[in-house]
Amino acid sequence: MTKKIIVTGGTGYIGSHTVVELIKKGYNPVIIDNLSNSKKEVISRIEKICKKKVSFFKIDCTKEKKLKELPIWDDVKGIIHFAAHKSVSESVDFPKKYLSNNIGSLEAILNIMKYYKIENLVFSSSCTVYGNPEKLPVTEKSKIQEPTSPYALTKQKCEEIIIKSSCINNYAILRYFNPIGAHKSSLIGELNLNKPNNLVPLISKSIKEKTKLYVYGDDYNTHDGTCVRDYIHVCDVASAHVKVLEKLFTSNKKKYILNIGLSKGVSVLELIKQFEQANNIKVNYEISNRREGDVEQIYANCKLAEKELKWFPERSIKQALIDAWNWEKNN
Ligand code: WQD
Repeated sequence: MTKKIIVTGGTGYIGSHTVVELIKKGYNPVIIDNLSNSKKEVISRIEKICKKKVSFFKIDCTKEKKLKELPIWDDVKGIIHFAAHKSVSESVDFPKKYLSNNIGSLEAILNIMKYYKIENLVFSSSCTVYGNPEKLPVTEKSKIQEPTSPYALTKQKCEEIIIKSSCINNYAILRYFNPIGAHKSSLIGELNLNKPNNLVPLISKSIKEKTKLYVYGDDYNTHDGTCVRDYIHVCDVASAHVKVLEKLFTSNKKKYILNIGLSKGVSVLELIKQFEQANNIKVNYEISNRREGDVEQIYANCKLAEKELKWFPERSIKQALIDAWNWEKNN
């Protein structure tokens, strides 16, 4: 059986960790990435971790004609589509860029799948599709609320396109919560070519550069006034992708929509404290204004992924924060 898996956005944060997991499980991933928010060096680092060469093609996934001409589409067992812009805050400033890139790249990939008769798709979605949930924790049946950012809108639209598309029958939509941490080798991690937006890389950066971290608002209706999120180790997110691919290959059930989180709500101030304790270090922070597009609180009920995939997160938040700080120190 062929083990060739096309991974778009495979030099990105979750993509690179998933490529490592695919190789570990005996698959043959082929990476397509435009390097808009990552570096080609990630390929050599993946090869160093896995002691195996990895095929890589620098292509923008919205360029359907160029995609079609790649010599890689024979014998493809499945596609994992990560390639997208992913910053909630940046999408507020550049909505058109997010809509055209995130939706355009999915449409191009779906057309490729139809043309080359590729059956299995795993799509990188997000808990942001739930908006500001009315009830917590959120399950896959929770109401899809008004999107709180253009990023969230693109993920909602992409899910709709996949579900309604006649040319794709086997799909898995994975709604990640907040991936954090890095591979234990510190060779791959959350690499932001542009200014990082996410909390954990900004905590690490503030310590390394002796700058201040700003907590975006402490006047939310939460136990300590700061936003609550569900932080999950990126390697556990990666393993969920391989497990759901295997389900698509082996099970009669061919459609999945699954929450991927730790099923635990942690506030910004709590995460800062956990970072300090895990790494025995002080974070210099100050409360500032709210950030537009932020959801007040969200965390997952991941029982469905546990049941359907026999997937159970193996790493704690503490481990993720240690791995995140090691990544920052070593890079
Ligand atoms: C977390 C909390 C901020 C920076 C992420 C991904 C997105 C999607 C959903 C997968 C918020 C606060 C942050 C800072 C702060 N994941 N914060 N000071 O916005 O939940 O989105 O998860 O698809 O791709 O980006 O993550 O890390 O930006 O923010 O106070 O300097 O930390 O306000 O409450 P977010 P984040």
